[in-house]
Amino acid sequence: MYKLIIVLFLLLLCVLTYEYVNTPDYYWREYAFRTIPYDAVEIANDEKYIGQVYVNGGLVPATIYPYLGYAVAELFGKQIVRDHIKILCCPDHSKLYWDYVDFTQSAANGQMKNSILGGFYKDSNYDFNHFIGKLLHQGEWKAGKVIPIEHSRGALVIWNSTDGTPAHFKQFYMLKYNLTVDSPGGSNYYWRDYSFGQVPYDAFEVADDGKYIGQVYVDGGLIPATIYPYLGLAIGELHGKLVIKEHVKIFCSPDHSKLYWDFVDFEKPGSAGQMRNAVLGGFHNDIQNVFIGKVLHEGVWKVGKVLPMENSHKGLLVWNDVDGQSVHVKQFHMLKYNSTIELPENMQKCISLS
Ligand SMILES: *[C@@H]1O[C@H](CO)[C@@H](O)[C@H](O)[C@H]1NC(C)=O
Ligand SMILES: *[C@@H]1O[C@H](CO)[C@@H](O)[C@H](O)[C@H]1NC(C)=O
Ligand SMILES: *[C@@H]1O[C@H](CO)[C@@H](O)[C@H](O)[C@H]1NC(C)=O
Repeated sequence: MYKLIIVLFLLLLCVLTYEYVNTPDYYWREYAFRTIPYDAVEIANDEKYIGQVYVNGGLVPATIYPYLGYAVAELFGKQIVRDHIKILCCPDHSKLYWDYVDFTQSAANGQMKNSILGGFYKDSNYDFNHFIGKLLHQGEWKAGKVIPIEHSRGALVIWNSTDGTPAHFKQFYMLKYNLTVDSPGGSNYYWRDYSFGQVPYDAFEVADDGKYIGQVYVDGGLIPATIYPYLGLAIGELHGKLVIKEHVKIFCSPDHSKLYWDFVDFEKPGSAGQMRNAVLGGFHNDIQNVFIGKVLHEGVWKVGKVLPMENSHKGLLVWNDVDGQSVHVKQFHMLKYNSTIELPENMQKCISLS
């Protein structure tokens, strides 16, 4: 009898442990203004955070503006909330990701998969959960409620900053969580602020040529560029050649052996797999992710932004040094990262020698 009880107890323990291990590890903390928890989830590196507020009978995801002392949510128009705000937190941000979704496409392709519950709304006509989305709108990132795709009104609903009316979007970024995601969780690369002349020890060189990968701020986003430390400038492409002398970031990684330049041909049909392992280089035109590519052009390697396969202008954009015009190529090398890559032995020797 005792044995049976012990066995049952152990079984129960297993079940409980299993449940525990598989619980997504994110949560809502009470928010006190000016005190941002160490594990709070930022909307877009912009000192704004994801909140949850109770307003007009609904629990709604919101944008927290710590420097203004309030949160903004949308439910029957823009709502400014100053009390009883929660803030979304997560100890391991690498498991969170913003997934670009398109609610004009069918629900069948799993666009709601991995999404994070952000609240609910219920009245005599409606009853649905809210999820969390964001969009660059009127010059700033706003996080707000997502009405699920199954619903006829499925959309991201934020607010018009001018008149406070609701603004509905079918294409936006949805916040998601994947407990077992291995990339970019295991991806050990990052952007450092760059001061000209000072190349960080872990910066990743373009091609053994004293040039590095930069990220620059342009109208409509952040894009990859080429850093020329010896010239004290970076060059990128935005409607032609663009020279930048300040606010440049430099791409770095402590383990260069996991990074590789993969030759891709965007004209090859059915080649969506060519985006696999691509390193994110920024975003442009409000919502479009851009990646990092290089091409040997006019006798030198140039790094520029890659518009992904699904974009109608897919390809790498660099510039012409002679006349400053844009150059658009479909065959180039794309920067990729594989956290579990195993290099052939002879290549490992090369790296340890260098
Ligand atoms: C916001 O509201 C103003 C005033 O009604 C309107 O002119 C403008 O087009 C709206 N903007 C957006 C992005 O919806
Ligand atoms: C989570 O990420 C892993 C690794 O990238 C992937 O294999 C898995 O399918 C993802 N799970 C879900 C539920 O999206
Ligand atoms: C990473 O590299 C390993 C070893 O070369 C390979 O088996 C694996 O498929 C690669 N993973 C991805 C996601 O490309």
